[in-house]
Amino acid sequence: MKTIIANWKMNLGIRGSVALTKQLLLTLKGQKMAPEVIVCPGYLALAEVRKVIARSRINLGAQDLFWESQGAFTGEVSPTELTEVGVTHVIIGHSERRGILGESNEMIAKKVLAACVNGLVPIVCVGESETDHEEGNTLSVVKNQLQQAFSLVADQGFKNPVYVAYEPVWAIGSGKTADPKEVAKIHEIIRQNVQPIMSGGVFVLYGGSVNGENAQAFLSEEEIDGLLVGGASLKLGELTEIFAIAAHNIG
Ligand code: PGA
Repeated sequence: MKTIIANWKMNLGIRGSVALTKQLLLTLKGQKMAPEVIVCPGYLALAEVRKVIARSRINLGAQDLFWESQGAFTGEVSPTELTEVGVTHVIIGHSERRGILGESNEMIAKKVLAACVNGLVPIVCVGESETDHEEGNTLSVVKNQLQQAFSLVADQGFKNPVYVAYEPVWAIGSGKTADPKEVAKIHEIIRQNVQPIMSGGVFVLYGGSVNGENAQAFLSEEEIDGLLVGGASLKLGELTEIFAIAAHNIG
């Protein structure tokens, strides 16, 4: 089964997130074949969206978390606070956090550990910059990001499944997409790198300017387990189209 993750970023608000979630439920209702769906609204909308998706097949994801469970960490949100509102998945190390907020590989490693300790499924984002892409450094950058992100969970015997979202920084929100065949090759290497560390299952997704038009080219690749969708996930029509394509690309 393919997985579609909707990353709504700092868009939609509470009302907008609830409205779109209700529409998505209607779209998925009664469909025998459907992808795994994870919606990631902003923190403030999590509890309300949770009410809408209760007893449905849609899963709830957060866009980030802090690595401590409790304490004097003004403005942060802990893994336990997330599980309390029904969050099951969490995006970690998105390129916007790495780039805009200066999130380091060390911080990302702590977040991956915190997610695993608290039974959350981490969605770890990796991807190279435009310069690294042009200079042919993609694989070394991605391997280094993976090695660091999973450094604290290595040899700990966690049984959590883990998602890795390969999102080239230059493809995010730019309208430019990576070549699906190239992506498939990179995914294979990501899987080889992470599988020995996480025995609960490794699912590798692509993200970066995905929409209803280009989704088929990615989802028809066996190595691509699903998609992390940003901009297009704000539009019901695009998302519905991506769901339908995902449902028909089972492998
Ligand atoms: P995009 O964003 O689909 O708008 O490129 C993807 C992401 O940032 O996860």
